[in-house]
This record gives sequence, structure tokens and C-alpha cells, in this order.
Amino acid sequence: SPVDRSGVWRFRDLLPIVADERNIVTLSEGNTPLYELPRSAEALGLDRLLAKHQGMNPTGSFKDTGMTAALSVAKEMGYRWVACASTGNTSAALAAYAARARMQSLVLIPEGKIAWGKLSQAMDYGALTLQLRTDFDGCVQVLSEVVRKAPVYLLNSVNPYRLEGQKTPAFEIAEQMDWSVPDHVIVPGGNLANCSALGKGFLEMKSLGITDKLPRISVIQASGANPLYRSMMANGGEHLEPVEANTRASAIRIGNPASWRKAVRILRETGGWCEEVNEAEIALAKAEIGAEGIGCEPASAVTLAGLKKLVQKRRVASSETTVLLLTGHTLKDSDYTIAYHRGELLREEEAAPLKPEIELTRRNT
Ligand code: F0G
Repeated sequence: SPVDRSGVWRFRDLLPIVADERNIVTLSEGNTPLYELPRSAEALGLDRLLAKHQGMNPTGSFKDTGMTAALSVAKEMGYRWVACASTGNTSAALAAYAARARMQSLVLIPEGKIAWGKLSQAMDYGALTLQLRTDFDGCVQVLSEVVRKAPVYLLNSVNPYRLEGQKTPAFEIAEQMDWSVPDHVIVPGGNLANCSALGKGFLEMKSLGITDKLPRISVIQASGANPLYRSMMANGGEHLEPVEANTRASAIRIGNPASWRKAVRILRETGGWCEEVNEAEIALAKAEIGAEGIGCEPASAVTLAGLKKLVQKRRVASSETTVLLLTGHTLKDSDYTIAYHRGELLREEEAAPLKPEIELTRRNT
């Protein structure tokens, strides 16, 4: 059945979601590839570097694994409307799964601050799409007012069912490694739900005895949107001060992340780290992932940029295996890619200090 082919629902024994099978809303999500990154591995002196490409999901991002779970619950509970605030990928996934469930969807996005590919998806799948003259954090505030007044099911990443779906890539990674786990998993950090969900997946596998250890889960933020990084540096994650966020990796342009406490817990329990990477480091890493014949969106490329720092600091050893979590497809934000390769993305002072350690790509003009 379509349910058994889904990379999320084939693990339903491990999901505390009471869904009558007839209410399951699926687009055959999950079952994404785990790619080798041989050129980057060689350049960094690592024996093995892998990329779990969640951009290969039906709407092109990791959000689909969470949305299939949450929309199924929404359908079971009899909701007619679902809604989210988003930097683009959540809104695309929500719109698609709501359409499949024959439900109405409302998405609030920050005007001019999301990639066109994502905006076009929300429209294509038929969401009521509102661009607000604010940032992501402002959209979250407006939406919390809306759901107080209307019978709308809120599907932001604090929704626990989304996290249940988003933990399943952890199961797939282990499965694809013959039920072992990597030494390191590296995840981009925005609203900080995804690192928490994956951590939950790895913790559950270990406590069930399916795997025998935990990977160190590290979170990488853009330096212009780095509230978790600052919090870890300043007070070890005891307290988080929201920041005014700005980065060209628009998916993770978030200053006040909802799930930061969960993220800190995962960093502590798995022994991972939080790093920040600047705009030039992100752009170069994205080009390098492209040069492997794989590609990803800018927010996903922070993982490779962050790995370079962890290798420099000798936190990742050459004999250890690392999995980068690539969260979005390269076609999500083609404007970024074209601007970079034309030499129009970075200001000269941003690009100048960067001495590429990996000689993989030549910029095209
Ligand atoms: N990578 C991509 C491509 C994303 O779209 C997001 C988040 C993240 C990483 C960060 O994940 O928030 O769980 O830490 N996108 C959300 C959205 C905020 O609205 O699409 P996170």
C-alpha cells in the first residue's frame, strides 16, 4: 500500500500517532538517498563523509516527513483549516499535504525574504498565501493571534506530531548503514526543531537496543542568525537572547528559535557542538556540494561549512564517519546559485578573506 511505501509510515510502530490508516495523508515521502561526498572527504582528510539528502522529498525539503504525520493527525481530528508561519519550506510542504487531505491551508511568510521556488509551491498547491511586511519571527506572532480566534490547526514546528515524522530520517540513516550509526551528524539550525527531532530518533533507537551508540549531533547556524551559538558561548545554553536575524540562507533567517531548549538538550546528551559560519563560507560550501553532483539549498550548505570548522578544531577525526543533513533541494533557491556563480552574490569584502581549503570549484561568469 502507499502507506507501506512511505519512509515515514513504514516506521509507524515507532510513532506515537493514533492514525486510522484511512486518514494517513502521504505523498511517498522519505526513503531519501544517503550519498557519499568523496571529493569533500578527500579535501578534508576524512575517510568517509556522507550526505542524507532530505531535499529529495516530494516538495524538495525535509519538512515533508513532519507534514505527513501532522496532516494525518489534523485530518483525524476533523480540522478543515491548517496554518503555519514559514521561511518557505514549511509553507510548501504544508500546502501540498493539505491539498492531498482536501483541507484549506493558510501560510504567512515574510515579504521578500523567501526564495521564489518556495513561494511558487505554496501558490501551486493552493494555499491562501499571505506575505507580511515583517520577518519570520513577526509572522509567528501574527499567526498565534489568528489561531486563538479561529478553529485553525497550527502546524509550526512546535507541533509534536511534526517532530515524530522528522525523527524518521534517523532510522533511515541507521538502516542505510546496516544498523550502525555515524560518529557525527551535522544539522543546520534555524527554529531548532529538526536537530531535536533527529536526536529523538537516535535516542529512541539506542534505548530500544536497535543501535548501540549515539552520534554526536552538531548544529550549525549562519553567523547572521546565530542565537543558539551565542547562547552556548555566553552561558552554555542556559538562556537564549533573541537576535535580529539576517542571512542570505533565508530558510534559517530566524532570530527567536522556538525549540532552543530541546536543541540544547540534544547537544548535551549527544556531546555535539554548535558552530557559526559566515556568508562566504556558506556560499563556498554550497558550490562544493554542487560540484559533487548533488547540490542543496544555501541553508543546507552550512553543514559542510561547519564541518570544516569541526575538523580544524580536531573535533572530527579522520577515521570518523560524518553524515551531513542536507535539508533542501538545490532548485529551491536558484537565484542564489546563479548570483554566486556570476560573482554577484557576495560583496567584495565578504569574499576576499576566504581562502578556500577545498579547491573544488571555479566560479563561472
Ligand atoms: N534547512 C532548511 C532548508 C529549512 O527550510 C529550515 C527551516 C532549516 C534548515 C532549519 O530547520 O528550523 O528545524 O532548525 N525552515 C523553516 C520553514 C523554518 O519555515 O521552512 P529548523
